[in-house]
Amino acid sequence: MSDAIVGLDIGTSRIRAVIGEISENGVLQITGVGTSPSNGLRKGVVVNIENTVRAVSQAVEAAEMMSGIEVSRCMIGIGGTHIDGLNSRGVVAVTGKGRDNREIGNNDIHRVIDAAKAVVIPMDRQVLHVIPQSYIVDEQRGVKDPRNMIGVRLEAEVHIITGSVTSVQNMVNCVNRASLEVDAYMLHSLASVQSVMTEEEKELGSILIDIGGGTTDVLVMADGAPLLTAVLPVGGIQVTGDLSIVKGISVETAERIKLDTGCCWMPLIEENEEVILPGVGGRPPVVIPRLEICEIIQPRMEEILTMIRDKIAPVTKNLQLSGNVILTGGGALIPGVVELAAEVFNTQAVRIGIPANLGGLTGEYRSPDYATVIGLVLSLWEQHKNEFKDGTPAEKFEKPVLGRIKGWLKEFF
Ligand SMILES: Nc1ncnc2c1ncn2[C@@H]1O[C@H](COP(=O)(O)OP(=O)(O)OP(=O)(O)O)[C@@H](O)[C@H]1O
Ligand SMILES: [Mg+2]
Repeated sequence: MSDAIVGLDIGTSRIRAVIGEISENGVLQITGVGTSPSNGLRKGVVVNIENTVRAVSQAVEAAEMMSGIEVSRCMIGIGGTHIDGLNSRGVVAVTGKGRDNREIGNNDIHRVIDAAKAVVIPMDRQVLHVIPQSYIVDEQRGVKDPRNMIGVRLEAEVHIITGSVTSVQNMVNCVNRASLEVDAYMLHSLASVQSVMTEEEKELGSILIDIGGGTTDVLVMADGAPLLTAVLPVGGIQVTGDLSIVKGISVETAERIKLDTGCCWMPLIEENEEVILPGVGGRPPVVIPRLEICEIIQPRMEEILTMIRDKIAPVTKNLQLSGNVILTGGGALIPGVVELAAEVFNTQAVRIGIPANLGGLTGEYRSPDYATVIGLVLSLWEQHKNEFKDGTPAEKFEKPVLGRIKGWLKEFF
C-alpha cells in the first residue's frame, strides 16, 4: 500500500477520522476508521478549542491504530450555520488565439469564473467554493463544457459557497494543534453528496438532507450542480432534548432511549410495544407505551423536515426535480424517517443515503452518519486520480469543489 488519504469530519456529536490507502494499481481501500465523542462544538462551530483538539487526536489515533500507519495531513469538512450559498453569473468576451479564432480556451474559463465570483461579500466572510453550474456561449444555453467551442461571448452561472473566516480558522487551528496539516477543506453537504448521491440523481435533480446532531445540512442538486445550500441550526440534539424535558429524564438517558426505541412514524409502532423509563432520584422506573416516545419525536422531526421544505421552496417550486430526496447523517437512522419525509415532501422518491462499500477491513463506515467523512476521502481520491492524468488547468473547474487551504490561509491570517 502507498499514498494514505485522510478525511476528518469534526461534527457536533462525533468526530470521525477515516484513512484510505491507494494501492499500486490505483484501488482505494478504507484501512482505518476512528471516532470520538465531540464536546467542543455548538451547531457545527468550534466553541471549545481544547476539547475539540483532544477529541480530534483521539479519533485520528484510533484510525491510525486500525490502519497501522501514522498520518500527518488531512482534508476537513466545513459546516455550521455560518455557511451560506448564492447563485451568481459572470460574462466575458472570448479572446481566442487570433482575430479569426474565437475558440474558447482554459484562459477564458478562468476569466469568466473570476467574473462570476466577483460579488461583494462582507470582510468577515470568505468564499469556500465556486462551482460552475453551466455556461452560455453566445445564445447557446446549458453548455457543460465550453472548451473548444467557437463563440464571442462566454457567460458562466455559478454557485458560490461562503463561510465565516473565524469559524473556519478555529477549525483549522484545532486540527493543527492535534498535529495534522490541513491540505484541503470541503463543505459537509458537498462531501455527503459525493458519497451518497449517484451521478444520475445529480442530473435528474435531488435533495440531500444530512441530519446531524447540531445542524441539518441541505443541498439541492439540479442538472448535475448545486443550486441551493443551507445549514439549519437544528438536529438530533433537539430531538433528545424534547424527550428529556417531556419525560423528566437526563439527556444521557433520553439519548439512549432515542437510539434504542426511537421512531418518528406512528403507524410503525405495534399496539403493545413498551419502553422502560428509568427512575430519577429514587423514583421507581415506569413502563410507558412506545407510542408516547414516538409522539414526542415525530413532531420535532416533522418540524425539521418542514423547515427544509419551506427553505428550498422558492428555488424548487419552478423546477422538475425527478431524482430523490436523500436522507443521511445520524438523524437518518431513526426508524420512520423515510415515511415521514415522504409525507412532508409529498413524494415516494425518498431514500436513506449510505456510503458504498469501498473494501478494506471494516464495514463500520457503511452507515449514514459516515456520509460526510467518506465523501471527503472519495473527493481526495478523485483528485489523486486526476493528478495522474495529463492535467490541464481547466480540469480544475470540472472538479472544482476541493477548497485549497494554502494561499487562502496566506490571504487571511
Ligand atoms: N440509531 C439512531 N437513531 C436515532 N438517532 C440517531 C441514531 N444514531 C445517531 N443518531 C443521532 O444522530 C445525531 C448525530 O448525527 P451525526 O453523527 O451525523 O452528527 P454530527 O456530524 O456529529 O453533527 P453535525 O453534522 O450537526 O455537526 C445525534 O443527535 C444522534 O442522537
Ligand atoms: Mg455531520
